[in-house]
Amino acid sequence: MAEFLEGLKRTHFCGEIEKKDVGKKVTIMGWVQSRRDHGGVIFIDLRDYTGIVQIVFNPDISLKAHRTAHSLKDEYVIAVTGNVQYRPEDSINEKLPTGEIEVMVASLIILNESLPLPFPIEDEIDTGEATRLKYRYLDLRRRPMQTQLIVRHHLLQITRSYLVNHGFFEIETPFLTRSTPEGARDYLVPSRVNPGKFYALPQSPQLFKQLLMIAGFERYFQIVKCFRDEDLRADRQPEFTQIDMELSFVEAKDVRNATEGLLSEIFEKILGISLPRPFPVLTYAEAMRRFGSDKPDLRIPWELSDFTDVASDVDFKVFRSAVERGGRVKALNAKFCGSLSRKEIEDLLAEIEPYGAKGLAWIKITDKGPQSPIVKFLDEGFLEEVFKRTGASQGDLLFFQADDGDVVNAALSHLRTHLGQQMLPLSKKDFRPLWVINFPLLEYDAEAKRYVAIHHPFTAPLPEDIPLLSKDPSRVRAQSYDIVLNGYEIGGGSIRNHFRAIQSQIFSLLNISKEETNKKFGFLLEALNYGAPPHGGIALGLDRIAMLLTGGNSIREVIAFPKTQRAVCLLTEAPSEVSPAQLQELYLKLVPPRK
Ligand code: AMO
Ligand code: AMP
Repeated sequence: MAEFLEGLKRTHFCGEIEKKDVGKKVTIMGWVQSRRDHGGVIFIDLRDYTGIVQIVFNPDISLKAHRTAHSLKDEYVIAVTGNVQYRPEDSINEKLPTGEIEVMVASLIILNESLPLPFPIEDEIDTGEATRLKYRYLDLRRRPMQTQLIVRHHLLQITRSYLVNHGFFEIETPFLTRSTPEGARDYLVPSRVNPGKFYALPQSPQLFKQLLMIAGFERYFQIVKCFRDEDLRADRQPEFTQIDMELSFVEAKDVRNATEGLLSEIFEKILGISLPRPFPVLTYAEAMRRFGSDKPDLRIPWELSDFTDVASDVDFKVFRSAVERGGRVKALNAKFCGSLSRKEIEDLLAEIEPYGAKGLAWIKITDKGPQSPIVKFLDEGFLEEVFKRTGASQGDLLFFQADDGDVVNAALSHLRTHLGQQMLPLSKKDFRPLWVINFPLLEYDAEAKRYVAIHHPFTAPLPEDIPLLSKDPSRVRAQSYDIVLNGYEIGGGSIRNHFRAIQSQIFSLLNISKEETNKKFGFLLEALNYGAPPHGGIALGLDRIAMLLTGGNSIREVIAFPKTQRAVCLLTEAPSEVSPAQLQELYLKLVPPRK
């Protein structure tokens, strides 16, 4: 029979009992991790969030406790009182921090029972993620999950105290609001008291934080949930957390500096790792040229080289015709990967086909010189350039892509990451931050036949590119910056348009009509009329940072109650249908989905 505590108080945590406690009487509480019966004596590993301690039931010490201990099963919740003693020499467990001691139980009460579990509470389990998510409260009992969430807790506390100590005010902004465009779809909330009207959950607090700068707070931060209805991946959730910041009277460099300070503090305090400062900075154009990606993993030392200028007159048709069609020819030097077999090399095509690659040309540099099915089509002069530009030497493997520039970059950068992770001893404790700055401001969306903002519409152009806004918008560079860590975009931000005229010009370039602009962003444009200071900011992806700090591969592992790839919470079964009465109250009618 399970009992209430009735005044019983815990004196110690399981994982914190030490040799110096030997001889003390302790009361501890927790979950039964395991039970072993050894010739009349019962041993139990008792667990709370601090760790495990062995407790012993000996009939000679307490017959009653010993008898009750027979009924204990895994995950029963119990409280015991007893004496801490040394373990006999031969039963010391070196792997356990409490492995030299044990608690000899004098009394036991059962606080609750447990059904047999769907999976064991152990560090390593092979249970499918769906089951783990359905019983998340059990999954979260496992030590690795607890450690991860506790790291996240420290991350939150360090961030808050660092920013407060650096003059930032923590100010909350609404969740029931208007659409804030960050490139995803909105989650909408119908308004009962305003029939036919909807709030949008914020994709970010972007507009409010700008208004706070106009209000004169100068330094704002918020650790805030954002909501985006987009295609989900391992590093994307429909609701996620940003460390959101905004500063007044600053330039891009100042925001980067503040961010570096915060990130350095986080990595120092949590992992004892000092990040090299200042972080390296690459322009977007340079990142694309050298790595084919705006978020290169700098732990991989391989770079791309461009051969477009010399590929137009080679015999190899694949190269020549790509150049004739206005495409590019680029190569990746996978240093020291010459040991890959022909089959292993050819299988790599499947890896890059999803990025549009139609083939994969390669050259192996052997002791007998370049070896490849395509060398016969390449003249001396071209090969000389290949050696010069790629820095290739014996043992290297060169991969070529000839195609539309975007395909070339996407395919080679994926190959770089894929093969780099496979072939190089990359450490999850090696952190290589990188700023990628000055992205294009706009991008032409051929399908929608209009420009779209690459970061968001509130980002300022580089001052020297402002004249291009009216002449050649696609060439305008932005005062924007992304912070990249080991191949992940962990944050992004920009200096904003604090001049109303430029903000209006950008809205019109985005083909948002005056009427629509006024309806959606009129309040911002109006605010820009009343003395808006120069300002800028950034938002860091807290979930991604927590994932990198804990060495994980998915942000689901650092979120207590995450959703699946289909945006479902398997524990609560949200989203769910609602009653006709609720729909009626909101003046909503459902239309069945089209087949
Ligand atoms: P951005 O859209 O780049 O910028 O978002 C900032 C950072 O948030 C993280 N992130 C996500 N993490 C998990 N799941 C998602 N679905 C998700 N989407 C984004 C990324 C990203 O770098 N308002 C601007 C910031 C600014 O300009 O100040 C913004 O939201 O790590
Ligand atoms: P093909 O002429 O199509 O038989 O291709 C000859 C070689 O070039 C093969 O090794 C192909 O994998 C490779 N190849 C084909 N298309 C491309 C491309 N767009 N970029 C790089 N290599 C290619």
